[in-house]
Amino acid sequence: MDLYIHCEETKHVLVILSVLISASYGQAVEVKGGPACDITQREDTLTVNCSRRDIDSIPTWPEQINNIEQVHDVVITFFNNSISFVTELGSVPGSHVAISFKSNAIDNIDEDAFSNVPRMLYLDLSNNLITGEVLRSEIFHGPYKNDVYDSIALETLNLGFNQIHSLDRYLFQYTPNLTRLYLNNNPIELLDHVTVLALSSAVNLEVLDLSKTDIDTIPLDAFRGLLNLQHIDLSDNRFTTVPESLSLVGSTLKYLTFNKNPIVKLDDDSFIGLNNLIELEVAENDYLEEVTRSTFSPLRNLRILHLCHNENLRYISHNAFRGLKDKWTLKEIYLDDNNLSELSPDLMPWNKLEILGMTGNNWLCNCDLANIITTQGAGSKFKPSEIPYCAAPMKLAGSLITNITVSFCPAFDKTFTSNRGFSLGNLSPRHVIWSILGVAFIALIGMMLGMLVKGIKTVYVKRIKNQSIRYVNLKEDAINA
Ligand SMILES: *[C@@H]1O[C@H](CO)[C@@H](O)[C@H](O)[C@H]1NC(C)=O
Ligand SMILES: *[C@@H]1O[C@H](CO)[C@@H](O)[C@H](O)[C@H]1NC(C)=O
Ligand SMILES: *[C@@H]1O[C@H](CO)[C@@H](O)[C@H](O)[C@H]1NC(C)=O
Ligand SMILES: *[C@@H]1O[C@H](CO)[C@@H](O)[C@H](O)[C@H]1NC(C)=O
Ligand SMILES: *[C@@H]1O[C@H](CO)[C@@H](O)[C@H](O)[C@H]1NC(C)=O
Repeated sequence: MDLYIHCEETKHVLVILSVLISASYGQAVEVKGGPACDITQREDTLTVNCSRRDIDSIPTWPEQINNIEQVHDVVITFFNNSISFVTELGSVPGSHVAISFKSNAIDNIDEDAFSNVPRMLYLDLSNNLITGEVLRSEIFHGPYKNDVYDSIALETLNLGFNQIHSLDRYLFQYTPNLTRLYLNNNPIELLDHVTVLALSSAVNLEVLDLSKTDIDTIPLDAFRGLLNLQHIDLSDNRFTTVPESLSLVGSTLKYLTFNKNPIVKLDDDSFIGLNNLIELEVAENDYLEEVTRSTFSPLRNLRILHLCHNENLRYISHNAFRGLKDKWTLKEIYLDDNNLSELSPDLMPWNKLEILGMTGNNWLCNCDLANIITTQGAGSKFKPSEIPYCAAPMKLAGSLITNITVSFCPAFDKTFTSNRGFSLGNLSPRHVIWSILGVAFIALIGMMLGMLVKGIKTVYVKRIKNQSIRYVNLKEDAINA
């Protein structure tokens, strides 16, 4: 699974394993029979392709199918047909069975539908018309043995793009090995009591996708017992804060995707307890305006931060990474396509990064930015084709920020430190005396000038106005030029 999806091509970090795409070309063995499905074998993989065949019911397999030798993986796909009722499937060989019913019209599933395929590890029921009522625990019954139903080996279950409001509390009773559950794009709205019981019973869950389910809270109990949860996607929901309940899985959670939520700011409460997070994605949050002090401080193991495509994000506190700088773990930070114009030189130890993304903002190319880019070496962390441009001041608008020279910046060399405070302790007594004399002299001149001006003023009336510099966003023009 490729988790390294960058901001430039923003999409959810969760990528559903595309095992079903591994086609079996080559010395294909045609097994005769069946409802015009192609059955092919290549090495130890048997593929039953029933996709796009206008099938409206589950076919029976040709008998020979269980006589094929040396089969380990079996991939069966009914993608894009018009099946509405999933009836009991016939048995198939192999110890790793993957079945897809993606894009049908399923609104019912038989009890024992999969009892002949207890070695089904992967089931894709996405993009159908399945409601919570259809999902009873009986549908996942394994074979009936010694007066009890066995469990099935199911590890990945994709229920995305259906009509689910709620889950049966016993739904996962026969699927003890469930590790990846996709509930995205369902009208859940509220994780009710029974749904919470169902989720918390899936104790081996590692990946949970709750994106686009219209939820705005996660009850604490939902995550109690999920001691292996590593990756959660909460994108495209109605959260106005990062749910506190995440801290219950803080010891295991490694990847958090939190895009497209109506959150206005991130602060020191946002990621509390997420000490083991490795990768955080906060993108396309159109209302996000600021990242305040200590926001990222709990994330002591973070390596990759995607904070990008938040079109109203214009402020990141210079203390956002407070407490992390001494044991810095971050390697990649993507700040592309926000509405930032300035960053503080002491925001982070820039030279410790491996990749930095800053394109698509309105950078004010001032001495702070020059310090970050040149003195602290951030300029060498950009990907070659992704060097950001200055938007301001006017004379630098459109220049690459790695092109700006520091000659106009005061006291700018390797000895620069972010502490630009002035301290009397730095001065020797001789300096102090000279300074006092200097001040007295200037005051005297000032008084004389003042009297002179007063005299002149009675003759001329002149307005002296401070000239303010206007920063104009010329970025677009500069890029298109
Ligand atoms: C399965 O069959 C359909 C229809 O013939 C075809 O379009 C598709 O490419 C096949 N898929 C694979 C993985 O071979
Ligand atoms: C499924 O096939 C129909 C044509 O039979 C097509 O119009 C539709 O877009 C396909 N759906 C998907 C999800 O590919
Ligand atoms: C669950 O996984 C374990 C370890 O891989 C395996 O021994 C067990 O048989 C699996 N359970 C089922 C019901 O297949
Ligand atoms: C970015 O911020 C400026 C003010 O700093 C504002 O005028 C502009 O509309 C913002 N851009 C977007 C895309 O919201
Ligand atoms: C950057 O500097 C190089 C060489 O100094 C110059 O050729 C190039 O035009 C400059 N590019 C921009 C966009 O400022």
